[in-house]
Amino acid sequence: MQLVTGGLGGLGLQAATALVDSGAQSLLLVSRRGHVAQGDEMSKGNLEALQSLDITVGTCACDVAQTDAVADLLVHNCVGGIVHAAGVIDFVELKAVGPGPFFSVSRCLKL
Ligand SMILES: NC(=O)c1ccc[n+]([C@@H]2O[C@H](COP(=O)([O-])OP(=O)(O)OC[C@H]3O[C@@H](n4cnc5c(N)ncnc54)[C@H](OP(=O)(O)O)[C@@H]3O)[C@@H](O)[C@H]2O)c1
Repeated sequence: MQLVTGGLGGLGLQAATALVDSGAQSLLLVSRRGHVAQGDEMSKGNLEALQSLDITVGTCACDVAQTDAVADLLVHNCVGGIVHAAGVIDFVELKAVGPGPFFSVSRCLKL
């Protein structure tokens, strides 16, 4: 099974599709919500395209900034590879970045 963090977002679903193109038969796509963000029609379509294939596509809610949650995920799934595509995008001028936005954007970089 190939684990894609942020696998229900734009970059993650592109990575998942590339993994399938390379022969992956089983995917686990995770994000904090465990589903595609409301209104993200492109990601919804990309997920549906993957789910229409003759492969296993699992989805799961997991905050990858939470060490215990990631440990639990790895204990309960046989993970052969990981693509870390989870991220939070916040377009702010660097000089205007305070601790709040910095924490929000950087918290899942530690996986
Ligand atoms: N798109 C690009 O061209 C591009 C290029 C270079 C770098 N990047 C970077 O790649 C990352 C992803 O970009 P994107 O375009 O795919 O954004 P996106 O469409 O917003 O997807 C981000 C995904 O990550 C999930 N996520 C965020 N925090 C998480 C956490 N703590 N644990 C688990 N899942 C988490 C989000 O879902 P939840 O909110 O439900 O958790 C969402 O599924 C960003 O950091 C971005 O800066 C993107």
